[in-house]
Amino acid sequence: MYLSLSNITQQKNHSARTLVMPLPGNLILLNGLDIESAHQQEHMIFNSLITGIAIILLLGAIGGFIIGISTIKKINLINETIREIGQGNLSLRVPTRGSDDDYDLLAININQMLDQINKLMQGIQNISNNIAHDLRTPLTRLRGHLESIEKNSDNESANDIREALLETDNLLSTFNAMLRINKVESGANKGHFTHLSLDRLVSDVVEFYEPLAEDKEINLSVKTDAPYSIDADRDMLFQVFTNLLDNAIKYTPKQGNISVDICCINKNSTDNIRIEIADSGIGIPEGEHKKVLEPFYRLEKHRDHQGNGLGLSLVSAIINLHKGNIEFQDNHPGLRICINLPRSNNSVVS
Ligand SMILES: Nc1ncnc2c1ncn2[C@@H]1O[C@H](COP(=O)(O)OP(=O)(O)O)[C@@H](O)[C@H]1O
Ligand SMILES: [Mg+2]
Repeated sequence: MYLSLSNITQQKNHSARTLVMPLPGNLILLNGLDIESAHQQEHMIFNSLITGIAIILLLGAIGGFIIGISTIKKINLINETIREIGQGNLSLRVPTRGSDDDYDLLAININQMLDQINKLMQGIQNISNNIAHDLRTPLTRLRGHLESIEKNSDNESANDIREALLETDNLLSTFNAMLRINKVESGANKGHFTHLSLDRLVSDVVEFYEPLAEDKEINLSVKTDAPYSIDADRDMLFQVFTNLLDNAIKYTPKQGNISVDICCINKNSTDNIRIEIADSGIGIPEGEHKKVLEPFYRLEKHRDHQGNGLGLSLVSAIINLHKGNIEFQDNHPGLRICINLPRSNNSVVS
């Protein structure tokens, strides 16, 4: 190997591949090849490889993170939509982006399934609607016949006929309630919204029920902390408070108490009006609060009272139409039903 002097003075060590060969005359032949540059190249290639792998790993991690976030976002969106649909907003659909990827396909399939479920539900609703609709006419005719028989009958059979008339009236009112609920829920009856005084409307209903409360020696009171106006369908809201007061009087024993309070909740934000109807009856167990809003659901202990189990379903349909909500609370003893309705900003009342 040939080493330059300058290299020797700088004392730089170079790697070399050498071949040592003994020669005759006690001589040694040392043959060497400087492989320092090859070593350096090897180092460079190794470093480049490590850097390359590190960059690939980093890019992979960043890419994976971005893909992961967008996947989670898409799944969250699907979850959120399905949760809202599960809570009763059946018209909602999972949004698609037209990207033809797996998520779009999943969203399309979910939406098709929801459309199919909706169609089946509408079919069932139409059947019950048609039954209610078609049976009303023969029932009304039957009622007419019974009335004319009652007129020409003796005292003894008149009582039986009167009972038959009562049963016919109950059936007719059940069919009418079914049709009314269906109209409100399907959107066929959108309501005739006017600006009205809520406290006046509630007072009118309370006044209407005072004689019935007096008959049962029930103390019925109404209180409001301020005048409240609201955009609503007068007849529908009248029906709501009629049904609620009818229940309160029906399910409260003699000499009980019923109070109706109108107040404002959330004074600082989008004002809501709250109407609380509290009675001192036996109330509804917490586990059945939601169930009593379903059509025909009646508590076992109340089955001997007159009714069809549709009153609260109609209340629920009307309150939903008015963008309000219903809460049930224990009144210790009795039931407290709270109706929350959005307040109107318009101050002129019709
Ligand atoms: N104020 C109340 N106190 C106790 N139970 C009530 C009250 N209001 C309603 N309920 C229960 O909820 C059921 C459903 O009410 P509703 O739909 O009005 O039907 P109904 O025709 O039986 O009055 C009733 O059958 C009764 O068991
Ligand atoms: Mg009722």
